[in-house]
Amino acid sequence: MEPDFWHERWSNNQIGFHEGETNALLKAHFQALDLAEGSRIFLPLCGKTRDIAWLLGRGHRVVGVELSADAIRQLFEELGLSPVVTETGRMSRYTANGIDIFVGDFFDLTEDQLGPVDAVYDRAALVALPGEMRARYAAHLTAISKAAPQFLITFAYDQSQMEGPPFSVPDAEVRRLYEDRYEITDLVSKELSNGLKGQVAATEDLWLLTPR
Ligand SMILES: C[S@@+](CC[C@H](N)C(=O)[O-])C[C@H]1O[C@@H](n2cnc3c(N)ncnc32)[C@H](O)[C@@H]1O
Repeated sequence: MEPDFWHERWSNNQIGFHEGETNALLKAHFQALDLAEGSRIFLPLCGKTRDIAWLLGRGHRVVGVELSADAIRQLFEELGLSPVVTETGRMSRYTANGIDIFVGDFFDLTEDQLGPVDAVYDRAALVALPGEMRARYAAHLTAISKAAPQFLITFAYDQSQMEGPPFSVPDAEVRRLYEDRYEITDLVSKELSNGLKGQVAATEDLWLLTPR
């Protein structure tokens, strides 16, 4: 997916991927990451997810990266925070108490800009990308986060039955992308009762990636 695809989605408010409330898997299983209060959690391709408010509410710090400045303006408005905006390399950085969001292309974000992170939370990021981008995404994410522990949510379905995003990322691909740096545990695997977008039978998986 090229940047224009996503900018258009945000400017036309076609954001069906946005959950109006905290992700249920995050709420139910976040403790599996066993993080100390104040941990800094990286959300790649973060949009304006409500999960950020939930993580901040639990005393964690959040760092994200997102292409759409519109999304991030809405995020801060909904959080009731006024960010300080600075420029760094090819990114704009929106900062407020406990939160740093980089607006720009994830692939331009460097390890130095990101800074240390204690965990990664990937919801609707890996699965938002077509197959040819996913290996590059996983390699870049592992590099800039220094293989921080990761919470990853994926879908698996018959890709010939529906176009992504979200794309199908089957178990074997998750393992291929991450097994050289992580122990991989499938914490939850469940059939979606109404299928994905009501169109195709699908399984949703929650993975815990623990650095080797
Ligand atoms: C499917 S949405 C998921 C958003 C969020 N993770 C959530 O759970 O609501 C994918 C998001 O990634 C952003 N995005 C896509 N490609 C990107 C890139 N290369 N760099 C930064 N953000 C990107 C899009 O603008 C969009 O907001």
